[in-house]
Amino acid sequence: MSGDNDHPQRVADAVASATTALQSARDVDEIRRVTNEHTGKGSVLLDVKAALGSITDVEIRKATGRAINEALGALETLASARLAELQRAAAGAAAATESMDLTEFVTSRKRGHAHIVTQAWERLEDVFVGMGFTVAEGPEVETDFHNFTALNMPPQHPARSSFDTMFVKFGSPGSTLLRTHTSPVQIRVMQEWDLPIYAVMPGRVFRRDTPDATHMPVFHQIEGLVVDKGITFAHLAGTIEAFTKAFFGNDFTSRLRPSYFPFTEPSAEFDVRSANGKWVELGGCGMVHPNVLRAGGIDPEVYTGFAFGFGIDRMAKERHDVADLRDMYANDLRFMRQF
Ligand code: PHE
Repeated sequence: MSGDNDHPQRVADAVASATTALQSARDVDEIRRVTNEHTGKGSVLLDVKAALGSITDVEIRKATGRAINEALGALETLASARLAELQRAAAGAAAATESMDLTEFVTSRKRGHAHIVTQAWERLEDVFVGMGFTVAEGPEVETDFHNFTALNMPPQHPARSSFDTMFVKFGSPGSTLLRTHTSPVQIRVMQEWDLPIYAVMPGRVFRRDTPDATHMPVFHQIEGLVVDKGITFAHLAGTIEAFTKAFFGNDFTSRLRPSYFPFTEPSAEFDVRSANGKWVELGGCGMVHPNVLRAGGIDPEVYTGFAFGFGIDRMAKERHDVADLRDMYANDLRFMRQF
């Protein structure tokens, strides 16, 4: 039997060996076993604790009791720290083996891209939104009223025949058609929106045309409409020029030529000139006719406005120097992949 003075050393030795064993424990069971071995029945610490009563020196008894309590507390802390460490490692390992990589590397060749007309459409919207316009859309199947009558083309108006209209079998004969231009959306916006109006209206339009290098029976336009107090032709010309520079770049410029549209007065065609001096006709424009403002529910004595409309396909064709419009719709990947 060892003497009372050996107790502190036995406690310290027990703590040291328990610490080493706990620090290298590889799982919960091992931690439990090591803890039990050093603090449970038959352990040195319990053995010393049981012997406390027989220590005669009060100071030594107190010190030994304190040492045992400290040792038990230290081993408990150590055991739970090691457990937390093992759990963290296990979670990390699980994350590494069980996680799924949901990303896929796609090369630019495999990845598709928008059609050049869609690209032009989106860029046009961006440029006009940047200039303070709001984007609106209208139906592709229109009423005769919106497509013609409200645009100052009453029945029998000769300008109607210039549109090569495709009517659909709906309602009374000749009352419903595939819209021949995006101008009917002007009427819808005037009827539905609050004033002032600064709107662009892109969309698909239809005409009974035979496809050739510069015509398709289905094509795209973007309409513009501004209605406010005190709007003049100068605002129209300035907007067209600002748009030309913003869309094509600073080395492009625009011009207006007198023209005729039933829904604008005065009317103009507008062209843009590239740096190499080539003029390209882009579309029509003019001051909104008072009859059109009235059809849209707006008092032409108080408000004035301008409108413009041009072909998106033609802009894409010019921008990419495509020789034949039909190539843009043949869906030949060898053609499409160039852009
Ligand atoms: N809608 C006309 C066309 O398709 C273009 C245009 C729009 C002209 C707006 C003037 C004002 O030819």
